[in-house]
Amino acid sequence: MALDDSLIEELGIGPVWVRRGVASVAPVEDERPPAESAALVSEAPAPVGMRQAPQPAAPPSALQPESDVPPVDAYDDLPWTDDAPAHAEAAVVEAPSDVHTLDWDALAERVANCERCRLCERRTNTVFGVGDREADWMLIGEAPGENEDKQGEPFVGQAGKLLDNMLRALTLSRQSNVYIANVIKCRPPGNRNPELDEVARCEPYLQRQVELVKPKVIVAMGRFAAQSLLKNEASIASMRGRVHEYRGVPVIVTYHPAYLLRSLQDKAKAWADLCLARNTYREALAALGVEQGAEKGGI
Ligand code: URA
Repeated sequence: MALDDSLIEELGIGPVWVRRGVASVAPVEDERPPAESAALVSEAPAPVGMRQAPQPAAPPSALQPESDVPPVDAYDDLPWTDDAPAHAEAAVVEAPSDVHTLDWDALAERVANCERCRLCERRTNTVFGVGDREADWMLIGEAPGENEDKQGEPFVGQAGKLLDNMLRALTLSRQSNVYIANVIKCRPPGNRNPELDEVARCEPYLQRQVELVKPKVIVAMGRFAAQSLLKNEASIASMRGRVHEYRGVPVIVTYHPAYLLRSLQDKAKAWADLCLARNTYREALAALGVEQGAEKGGI
């Protein structure tokens, strides 16, 4: 698959793949120790199509002027800048005992009619999840924003477009080989941070989705999703670049796409995270004896 220059530029990865392996050209300062960061970027090969793509003449997107960025209002205005830990002390909430027995249809119906927390009062739609229910890749975000609440589908705003393009660079898409869900299925009013008890009441649904999809790799997008899945209070910077685990499935932590819309300099890091996810996926396949080329999702 050939990637065009505009996609390379949008992902902010031109400088990474053009000059990878050259220690001094990291487009921005990394939050991880330099050695680890350089290894991750240079070890992560660009997809085949990207190696074939012409050398981008465009400037590093980290240097794009602010005026190229859509106004803040155009984003899915989720509280990704908030400093409060998402997990903190998990609220103790009794889970409905039968959720882990539900099949897809029953689970979707249960979520659609859910009144387990106050978020049901102001939602337009629940946002269950979208994509291939047998995907090898599962992406997990935080909670629906305004557009998602209206349409009942995760990541349909500007952040969703960026996410789709990032997936496309890995030959992944929500139409064919990825499943996308959120930690929280109803929009928190005003896009406030979900409360601990809301997370706890919603958690059985995501757990069951993971059980049903049986992904080979999970990508947690943003601090909130990562902290909720991994049950910690760690920073994104400290969680990135490592393989975590959620109920036996490897988890890679990356930035939330809405954050990337505003922090262009971190897109290259997000690309490195996706490359780590891809390597992790390949390792999972190899451990299962699946031959290269026979994989279901991603190059
Ligand atoms: N941000 C999320 O985390 N999830 C969505 O569905 C939309 C925006």
